[in-house]
Amino acid sequence: MQIGMTLAKHIYDTQRLHPEATGALTLILNQVSMAAKIVSREVRKAGLVDILGLTGQKNVQGEDVRKLDEFANEIFMAAFSQLGNFCIMASEEREEPVLVSDGRKSGDYTIAFDPLDGSSNIDANVSVGTIFAVHRRVSEGDEAVPEDLLQTGRALAAAGYVLYGSSTMLVMSTGHGTHAFTLDPSVGEFLECHHQITIPKRGKTYSCNEGNYPYWSEGVRHYIAYIKEADPASGRPYSSRYIGSMVADIHRTLLYGGIFMYPADTKDPKKPSGKLRLLYECSPMAFLIEQAGGVASNGTAPILDLQPTQIHERTAFFAGSPENVRELERSIAQYDM
Ligand code: AHG
Ligand code: MN
Ligand code: MN
Repeated sequence: MQIGMTLAKHIYDTQRLHPEATGALTLILNQVSMAAKIVSREVRKAGLVDILGLTGQKNVQGEDVRKLDEFANEIFMAAFSQLGNFCIMASEEREEPVLVSDGRKSGDYTIAFDPLDGSSNIDANVSVGTIFAVHRRVSEGDEAVPEDLLQTGRALAAAGYVLYGSSTMLVMSTGHGTHAFTLDPSVGEFLECHHQITIPKRGKTYSCNEGNYPYWSEGVRHYIAYIKEADPASGRPYSSRYIGSMVADIHRTLLYGGIFMYPADTKDPKKPSGKLRLLYECSPMAFLIEQAGGVASNGTAPILDLQPTQIHERTAFFAGSPENVRELERSIAQYDM
């Protein structure tokens, strides 16, 4: 008889590729898995209990905070604080980074996370997720500093997301490919379902909030017009798919290919770079996409090379199959430069 490879075994095998590893990252990833199971349990009963609805507060970006956002944030914060090896955390739901120490000294890792992504969808029973990004600390003082969090995606030690969909799935990478695990609720384990995801070189799906079309740049509008042109020989027009939960849209893009985008727009002068956050949304997703052979770009440069200057900074984001994203970049170079 065969049983599936557990997440814990996968993490252990990856640790063994690094003889110098102390096991700290292994502990962190196991803690993500534990917190994900708790949040998954709550998401599953969201329609049953009076946990839905707005808390009446706004988060640091001025958006409505839903009760489940707050719950997920508290669970992940508590799970990470329990480990002695974190030094600083940043969450979408907290304006300022939170220092962590075990009373004696700070740990070696930082984490930035979006505890519940796509939460505006939850009342409609649409998939939501959690996104996380782990870096090694760079400063050497007793206490961590915000610069420990403000590192490029290239420097990520690990990144991933949990998708609370028709099943709960954890997709992650430590720089050795992108792998996916499904939660078997009957035994409470994440079991491997996709070893080394490879994104198709080209896909026939585009994913964006097209309601923002009039506010996009020339280059983005030309690209969208191009993929909507009929050219049966090259498979155009492409299909449109947009869930409005980044985790779910990226998950589909990783498996089926195509392009996901949240371009910069001129709709809100306070958000000139679009909506998505670099540190805990775009950078970890770009890491997973590149590890699967895809491309993630802000239109002109790889997302993983962008140096963050603020915890909650936003960036334009285009990610998916290499041929699709390169085509989009060419359109931007031709019409916007
Ligand atoms: P969050 O729920 O963490 O605020 O993120 C929502 C994000 C992302 O999941 C999605 O891709 C995007 O918002 C959708 O935005 P629009 O409604 O503007 O399309
Ligand atoms: Mn989000
Ligand atoms: Mn969120």
